[in-house]
Amino acid sequence: MTIIYRARLLDFTDEPMDGEGSSAVRYVEDGGLAVAGAMIIARGEFADVRKAHQDAEIVDHRPHLIMPGFIDTHLHFPQMQVVGSYAGALLEWLNKYTFVEEQKFRDLSHAERIARCFFDELTNHGTTTAVAYCSVHKESAEAFFAESERRNMRSAGGKVMMDRNAPPGLLDTAQSGYDNTKALIERWHGRGRQVYAISPRFAITSTPEQLEASGALAREHPDCLVQTHLSENHAEIAYACELYPDARDYADIYARYGLLGPKSLFGHSIHLSEREAGAMAESGSVAVFCPTSNLFLGSGLFDMARLRGAGVRVSVATDIGGGTSYSMLRTLDEAYKVLNLQGQHYHPLRSFYQMTLGNARALSMEDKIGTLEVGSEADFVVLDARATSAMALRMETVTTLSEELFLLQTMGDDRAVAQTYLAGVGWKA
Ligand code: GUN
Ligand code: ZN
Repeated sequence: MTIIYRARLLDFTDEPMDGEGSSAVRYVEDGGLAVAGAMIIARGEFADVRKAHQDAEIVDHRPHLIMPGFIDTHLHFPQMQVVGSYAGALLEWLNKYTFVEEQKFRDLSHAERIARCFFDELTNHGTTTAVAYCSVHKESAEAFFAESERRNMRSAGGKVMMDRNAPPGLLDTAQSGYDNTKALIERWHGRGRQVYAISPRFAITSTPEQLEASGALAREHPDCLVQTHLSENHAEIAYACELYPDARDYADIYARYGLLGPKSLFGHSIHLSEREAGAMAESGSVAVFCPTSNLFLGSGLFDMARLRGAGVRVSVATDIGGGTSYSMLRTLDEAYKVLNLQGQHYHPLRSFYQMTLGNARALSMEDKIGTLEVGSEADFVVLDARATSAMALRMETVTTLSEELFLLQTMGDDRAVAQTYLAGVGWKA
């Protein structure tokens, strides 16, 4: 059974560095997106797609805009009930709120309930793929993957490994962290649309033995992602370097255990030295910019131009619950402001590239998600730039696609997401 979704279509073949008029922008005013089962089988002018699929059912989403589903490359599944906790900076926030909350995930039924809420929020906000940290408990990863699989969502996640500097209820050991991660990889990685992310939380909560074990897992499972935190906050950097006195700097801690590489995602990466940026670039590692979190926790201003200039791959993410919104629109709005403060102008076409194909590339998943390409998985969103009365009023003066996107980003949130499709199935509540 083929369905043709009729709407304006927008996706990207590359980062549109030139903004409007860039050949990397694919926009079809009266478009048709043909979906059979979970896959995109045709795209283009509606009339042409219709002619090629005359028996297809038509679903009319005009005048809305269909785009690839949003991709969030860094957030914490057990932190839904931490969002908006009144702490000053990172380490206080972790100890006072986050490490307390995450202990609840030893209870499978709690993890299952939060997993349902988690994927509901993501899909309501137009996010079709997320890369999540679970808690230290293997039950939390079980609940995460089981719920993702139930919705046929392409998700990545992993139980955090942490064996020091946290409450006893949140600690594994180098050996149990390795064993439980290995068992979870064997059970979930590559099962349907699920992807495992090996997740040593950060250098402060892992002993050298645990980072060693994490490196071994990464070597043994080169098609898994690796995720951790790096250079978020000055007190964190000083403490990490104190715990690893032989390392040249924070990035070198991870490098020594084989954790840098093209499948590795480093949350925050705000205060990197030139040397660290060079090591990130050389290894193909990804720096993940989390603007709402960086502002909320007062961590600092991510310098996109400097890192890109050094050749570092960059991604953008919410970092719930240090981050304050599930919405990639809200997130890119804050990214724009963080960059604007530094005199960097981030064109809305680049923002929308980043939350789709850009983030898919950061995950090495661009052959599956992030575009409306034929053969891609049918994960897409329907966006309504007139979703609120204030947006509708502002839309009266909008004349270009870039202006519409910038309005969606500046004023939009989950209300601007009219519908989300996961593997061809509509999920918006
Ligand atoms: N560094 C280590 N763990 C965390 C976390 O949960 N959130 C943030 N923002 N930074 C971290
Ligand atoms: Zn994080």
